[in-house]
Amino acid sequence: MSYNLLKGKKGIIFGALDENSIAWKTAERVHEEGGTFVLTNAPVAMRMGQINALAEKTGSQVIPADATSLEDLENLVEKSMEILGGKIDFVLHSIGMSINVRKGNHYTEQNYDWTQKGTDVSATSFHKVMQTLYQKDAMNEWGSIVALTYMAAQRVFPDYNDMADNKALLESIARSFGYFFGRDKKVRVNTISQSPTPTTAGSGVKGFDGFISYAEKMSPLGNATALDCANYTVSLFSDLTRKVTLQNLFHDGGFSNMGVSDAVMEAFVKK
Ligand SMILES: NC(=O)c1ccc[n+]([C@@H]2O[C@H](COP(=O)([O-])OP(=O)(O)OC[C@H]3O[C@@H](n4cnc5c(N)ncnc54)[C@H](O)[C@@H]3O)[C@@H](O)[C@H]2O)c1
Repeated sequence: MSYNLLKGKKGIIFGALDENSIAWKTAERVHEEGGTFVLTNAPVAMRMGQINALAEKTGSQVIPADATSLEDLENLVEKSMEILGGKIDFVLHSIGMSINVRKGNHYTEQNYDWTQKGTDVSATSFHKVMQTLYQKDAMNEWGSIVALTYMAAQRVFPDYNDMADNKALLESIARSFGYFFGRDKKVRVNTISQSPTPTTAGSGVKGFDGFISYAEKMSPLGNATALDCANYTVSLFSDLTRKVTLQNLFHDGGFSNMGVSDAVMEAFVKK
């Protein structure tokens, strides 16, 4: 299904690693809706990933950028405007990484060098991306910036580890920068709080299989898939959502407002 919702719009999509990535599905959907964009990822991820295949499929160019490097981001924004022929209408920040999670360090036994690195990659990078766009006046009026987050920013999910704190900061940055971007440039900034989704980053969380099944059983509509998330993001990039800003938008089949569901109760009721 395509509605040409993004016809004529130009953007930058961070974080497509492989075809499971939420950013990958988003790039495909944005392309179908008539948007054009530059794809970017960390130089190291490019060697592992298959981003060139996505670029070919969507007629896009790839510019490597470590999202923690201001120099890389400046180059990315300048080159993107050259390639796309003008200012940017939409940006997707789909980046997350915790070394403590990756190396199996418990939340109560963090290596703080790793914690700091994870915060820089997962949260501060969003500030750096927006500051670069803002200072270069690279966004068109009524443009839209979206970052992906998870509900562990508000509620306890023990195995989400230090990523919970990173997501809380990410959501705060969306609100704080969103104010200035809205006031000065008429650009909206939101986070989408997505269901657990089987991707490289998602599957790195301990006990992910149990976790995704639990969320599925708790949510009246079931978990939102990566494709569902891509569709929601398209709506936020489109002109149909111009006055939505500073929001953390739950996209989780209803999970975030549930107490308990029949399906979950069943496992605890004595037969
Ligand atoms: N998968 C889930 O369950 C889930 C749920 C809610 C939110 N999210 C969020 O969605 C976003 C996308 O993750 P995903 O699940 O598609 O996994 P993914 O592993 O496919 O994507 C994560 C991306 O971050 C990129 N990245 C890491 N370090 C980087 C750096 N220094 N510079 C630039 N890019 C860097 C990786 O290369 C990768 O492309 C993340 O913010 C994640 O936290 C995921």
